[in-house]
Amino acid sequence: MHQTSDSPRVRIAVFPVAGLGTRFLPATKTVPKEMLPIVDRPLIQYAVDEAIAAGCDTLVFITNRYKHAVADYFDKAYELEQKLERAGKAEQLRLVRNVLPEGVRAVFVTQAEALGLGHAVLCARPVVGAQPFAVLLPDDLIWSRGPGALAQMAAHAQATGASVVAVQDVPRAQTGSYGIVATDIFDGQAGRIRQIVEKPAPEAAPSTLAVVGRYILSPAIFDLLERTPKGAGGEIQLTDAIAALLARERVDAFRFHGTRFDCGTHLGLVEATIRYALDHETLSEAARGLMQHALDAMGVVET
Ligand code: G1P
Repeated sequence: MHQTSDSPRVRIAVFPVAGLGTRFLPATKTVPKEMLPIVDRPLIQYAVDEAIAAGCDTLVFITNRYKHAVADYFDKAYELEQKLERAGKAEQLRLVRNVLPEGVRAVFVTQAEALGLGHAVLCARPVVGAQPFAVLLPDDLIWSRGPGALAQMAAHAQATGASVVAVQDVPRAQTGSYGIVATDIFDGQAGRIRQIVEKPAPEAAPSTLAVVGRYILSPAIFDLLERTPKGAGGEIQLTDAIAALLARERVDAFRFHGTRFDCGTHLGLVEATIRYALDHETLSEAARGLMQHALDAMGVVET
């Protein structure tokens, strides 16, 4: 990407959703992980809404043969819409239609073999072509009162022409679960990445600044992904291709405003559910009461 102030707007968002979700078995035996609900919407919807709010109008889902539910979810549900319309259920009709607002299109690409995140992103190449694009990992749910994380990153990408990787600080003991970056100068919010490494052991990690599942990438990443050998965990890693990109183009780490929940873990999913319930337009007060009640009741049992 060129460093100009009028870099092209990011219009394409890629969602790698071909993972097996084994951590959530048996729930994910039939329901894809991305379809697990947080209060009133499936996980994938939060990532999709964040991408649309950032200006994306083409959503590319990298799926596998077991993920029909994701494609079905974004398909138009004619019968359901007709029924809701006839029954005068305007609000429900709006909710169903808004899954994919007008003017936004969904494209599905099959990843035949689970060869890693880098490989999944490479599968999007025929759709993305030669423009900068976003990657969102729906497991990472980002709650924000103001503009979403991707919108913040898109503004930075547009202003600088750099590729952008979302980061947050993690305890050193957890570096082995993340891509870790080292930057030259970090102004508190952003800094040019000089090194990026996938899941380093705490003693080998160059910093404690961890990659969160939001990226805005230059299309130059595709040629590099083609040449990326298997890395950590025997998988083709997006992190390794980004490491190769650093030698050619500017890639910035960006600390977004917002709270990230790791919905790839049981506790993260529970935490997100609590937070979204407490923040919900209509459920907030009742949810607060329920939680207090549950804590009190458990407290009584324990004493
Ligand atoms: C992936 C990336 C890793 C990143 C993480 C964020 O790992 O490979 O660099 O830090 O997402 O959630 P995964 O969690 O899929 O193993």
